[in-house]
Amino acid sequence: MPWLDINQERYHAYMGYVGMVKLVEEIDKALFNPIWEQLRRPVPWDEVANNWRAKAIAQMDAQAAEVAADPETTRRAKKVCFCKEVDLGTIEDAIRSHGLTSVEAVRQHTNAFGGCCKRRIEDILATMPVSSPPAMLQAAE
Ligand code: FES
Repeated sequence: MPWLDINQERYHAYMGYVGMVKLVEEIDKALFNPIWEQLRRPVPWDEVANNWRAKAIAQMDAQAAEVAADPETTRRAKKVCFCKEVDLGTIEDAIRSHGLTSVEAVRQHTNAFGGCCKRRIEDILATMPVSSPPAMLQAAE
């Protein structure tokens, strides 16, 4: 236990009565050092409620509860274009209201860039029924 500084570069002299008092002070500091209390505590990563696995499970449970509470809103909030932060609901609404049939048309009516998300937009277009836009929109365009 390295609690007593006795090498040649030491900061305390242990000669005579003053040296003995200093020696006892150093022993006292070593025995009642706060580090011993900290060493007896369990490490934070061993606490069951505080480890990465418990946090990941809690996060997944929260997401599952959110989906279960309102699956349609969660589905529509799913990002399609991550570069421009455009969600599925925005793209579906644009496709429905304007009768869009191509990625280029979706790009023009939404903020989606259609670069890395082109395939996802094509998949959405493929799954949505082709509909003509409302007559008022056609007249306005
Ligand atoms: S996600 Fe990159 S352009 Fe849409």
